[in-house]
Amino acid sequence: MAERPTADVLTKPDAALEMTLRPSLFSDFTGQAKVKERLEIAVEAARRRSEPLDHILLNGPPGLGKTTLANIIAKSMDATLKSTSGPTIEKAGDLAGLLTNLEEGDVLFIDEIHRLQKTIEEYLYPAMEDFKLDIIIDQGPNARSIRLNLPRFTLIGATTRSGLLSAPLLTRFPIRERVDYYSAEQLQKIVIRAARLLNIEIEDLGGMEIARRSRGTPRIANNLLKRVRDYAQVRGDGRITAALADKALALLDIDRHGLDEMDKRILEAIIVKFGGGPVGVSSLAVAVGEEPDTIEEVYEPYLIMEGYLNRTSQGRVVTELAHQRLGLVGLRPESQPKLL
Ligand SMILES: Nc1ncnc2c1ncn2[C@@H]1O[C@H](COP(=O)(O)OP(=O)(O)OP(=O)(O)O)[C@@H](O)[C@H]1O
Ligand SMILES: [Mg+2]
Repeated sequence: MAERPTADVLTKPDAALEMTLRPSLFSDFTGQAKVKERLEIAVEAARRRSEPLDHILLNGPPGLGKTTLANIIAKSMDATLKSTSGPTIEKAGDLAGLLTNLEEGDVLFIDEIHRLQKTIEEYLYPAMEDFKLDIIIDQGPNARSIRLNLPRFTLIGATTRSGLLSAPLLTRFPIRERVDYYSAEQLQKIVIRAARLLNIEIEDLGGMEIARRSRGTPRIANNLLKRVRDYAQVRGDGRITAALADKALALLDIDRHGLDEMDKRILEAIIVKFGGGPVGVSSLAVAVGEEPDTIEEVYEPYLIMEGYLNRTSQGRVVTELAHQRLGLVGLRPESQPKLL
């Protein structure tokens, strides 16, 4: 979106960067301790039984490591990972092609699985449950359904919106895991590891400054690290200290508390336009120009976790902390200058 260039630059995946920095083993993967342990156990148990792993659904906001985990799982199983995504599977034939090309034990990764068409989803049910695929060949009076046997494979689905997944699809994943935002300490480790891989000189406190301002998200932390590195090279001596990181991040308009443009817009809209709430998600969505689903699945979880927002039965309500952080304390909605 044109109005928030900074936020976009920071949250957009950078393919080359992600390739270099993506951990390839469970031991390099920081945080998500319980999720990691449960997945490691499932992998180890399947390996001991020489069986393919059960299907896995990974759910959570963007940039927290779902694709990374899918790759790590496949690698730990010594399995080949074949990747696709919900919206690219347009016809049942596309799915049939993918499934019939799998080999025993392969991992099929379907990113954005909530965007799979309902008609295609139905072909997936028997494939997931019984490793069978019913396809219809020929058309008109000659049309008939044939049943193909598929190799036993593992489906890993990733989604930022598990709420949009149909119940039949959801229940066909025996393993369902949610990845959550990272603590500043975990992100600091991730930043320092990334700096080492990119040959960037960084002090621990410099890493912490970036970590605290990365919205709990490794992808944002890695992107910010690169921007701060640029600043260090041009305005400093190349070394990232806390003071230098602070200056660089201020120049990038990155909030001291790690809020991004849309976070702030959401809080400001609730305070200024809706008197602090409660407000329903659809009215809020119109006010900030974002999809209601995106607000619910991407922005709200972070704002709630950080104590800026509460969800009540009447709608969203901002907290005192949100008023303080946005500097809107004491301003009445009607006297508030237009901020948005
Ligand atoms: N636990 C982690 N430890 C170290 N780096 C991580 C971790 N999780 C994610 N990253 C880094 O963040 C980047 C983004 O992660 P990833 O692509 O796995 O996110 P995602 O959840 O799949 O996001 P999206 O929903 O946008 O597809 C990775 O390339 C990796 O460098
Ligand atoms: Mg991904």
